[in-house]
Amino acid sequence: MTHQYQHDVLIIGSGASGLSLALQLAEHASVAVLSKSELTEGATYYAQGGVSAVLDACDSIESHVEDTLAAGAGLCKPDIVRFVVEHGRESIQWLIDLGVDFTKTSNAQGNMDYHLHQEGGHSHRRIIHASDSTGRAIEMTLENKVRAHPNIKLFEHHSGIDLITGEKTGITPNRCLGAYVYDRKNNRVDVFRAKFVVLATGGAGKVYIYTSNPDTCTGDGIAMAWRAGCDIANMEFVQFHPTCLYHPKAKSFLISEALRGEGARLLLSNGEPFMHKFDSRAELAPRDIVARAIDHEMKRRGDDYIYLDISHKPAEFIVSHFPNIYKQCLEFGFDITREPVPVVPAAHYTCGGVMINRQGRTNLPGLYAIGEVSCSGLHGANRMASNSLLECVVFAHSTYQDILNQLSSVNFPQPLPAWDESQVTDSDEEVVVSHNWDEIRCFMWDYVGIVRTTKRLQRALNRINLLHAEIQEYYGNFRITNDLIELRNIATVARLIIESALLRKESRGLHYILDYPETNSTQYPQDTILSLNKPRQTNAA
Ligand code: FAD
Ligand code: SIN
Repeated sequence: MTHQYQHDVLIIGSGASGLSLALQLAEHASVAVLSKSELTEGATYYAQGGVSAVLDACDSIESHVEDTLAAGAGLCKPDIVRFVVEHGRESIQWLIDLGVDFTKTSNAQGNMDYHLHQEGGHSHRRIIHASDSTGRAIEMTLENKVRAHPNIKLFEHHSGIDLITGEKTGITPNRCLGAYVYDRKNNRVDVFRAKFVVLATGGAGKVYIYTSNPDTCTGDGIAMAWRAGCDIANMEFVQFHPTCLYHPKAKSFLISEALRGEGARLLLSNGEPFMHKFDSRAELAPRDIVARAIDHEMKRRGDDYIYLDISHKPAEFIVSHFPNIYKQCLEFGFDITREPVPVVPAAHYTCGGVMINRQGRTNLPGLYAIGEVSCSGLHGANRMASNSLLECVVFAHSTYQDILNQLSSVNFPQPLPAWDESQVTDSDEEVVVSHNWDEIRCFMWDYVGIVRTTKRLQRALNRINLLHAEIQEYYGNFRITNDLIELRNIATVARLIIESALLRKESRGLHYILDYPETNSTQYPQDTILSLNKPRQTNAA
């Protein structure tokens, strides 16, 4: 027996963006929050370094704006960058008021003040943090609040499958009306109707075999929006974090950039530093530069990893600043107070996504997207460290205001058609799903990684087209499972990344292609915008 739920607002995703929005809306509206796993499982929980904002008297809005624009390699939207940066301080205050316990230290006058980290691309210390587990502090604080709120209904282990639109159901004018949702525990598909739907589903790091992202990051929101006809922008800009622990059991555990902010050095296997040869900012250059330099050195020397070394700092300093990283590394046999640790780059952040405006609106009426799933124009061709959590909170607030302004003028959708399972049977070939998962993630790493060529991208496109057709056929014939939902989505997102990369005939920010090594400033800067309903092209930003 399937269910039809009705709420003012349906939020798909329970990370920093989804929960921040839910809390604000719940003062005025009934809100449903979907989470495809436990509520806290998502990238937010694992964030380490912190949240960037202009909090120090020596820092300035201008400086944060300039640094973000420089890291974004000419593709950020300057008005959006300014908008986010200007809302930094109040966003941090909102988190503090909720109870997030950011780390304090004694300042020059002997008073306690918030401690600020420095990270790549930032010309000032401006990363407020909760030790080295900032995401956990934020997510747990938000969780406690949303669980206690009477207007918020939480649906854990519920996976959004597809958006329901006027176009698909014959209801005019076209608008997002809700979503089909897979209830994983009861193994059934329910209908969620809402006046407004918000995608807060996070990024797509799982498209790559090596990633810092948790399992939830399969790009579901991007794929759902794509199928619903939304514009998807700049998918070629996949950020690889330079320093994930190299250990077969570590599952790409991240070692925060904040270590480099406190003086950690990147070393070759013979102990030589090398970053100064690539950029005058050395270890604190933006991530695209550092990851590419590491990739270059590993390939040149045939090494599987390089080293990150902070052991020249006092042990007490290291353990007190980075207790979680210290403990995790120790569990894998590395004492960072005494020795360098082996690290490698891994897929970390999806700079592209569902195109939105300042209010979080997509081009489908009634549908919003916030957080990593979106492409707001803040990050351009390369996100600067710790700007992401800030973006989550700022856009949660602007989206809240925009929905609030329309809440009383939009009616609930009428009951919507139930999910049709009349043509499908149970799968007898689960192995196809797991095999295709692995295949996509491996060739994305090999052919669509840190350094690209047209030939490798073309090869990847041929593969993904074949796999996409196979997965579509499988999807049409067999009953839904969570693995199948995610496989279909990673295939869609992989294809969007490859197609976008092929369209960009220059190197810029995170997209480095050997056939076009220069940045082409006459033809670009431009966003790469793909839409199901429009011909493939690169449009002016
Ligand atoms: P997430 O926190 O990823 O949440 C997405 C939610 O959507 C999850 O609840 C998930 O279950 C749910 N979901 C996904 N698909 C579906 C579906 N189909 N149906 C239902 N629910 C669904 N950024 C910084 O600014 N500072 C940092 O220090 C920092 N450190 C990081 C460290 C790590 C290891 C990682 C992986 C990322 C880090 N980032 C950092 C990036 C930042 O954490 C993320 O960009 C940000 O947390 C994204 O928040 P979000 O709300 O958009 O998505
Ligand atoms: C880190 O702590 O290095 C991650 C910061 C980020 O991704 O913004």
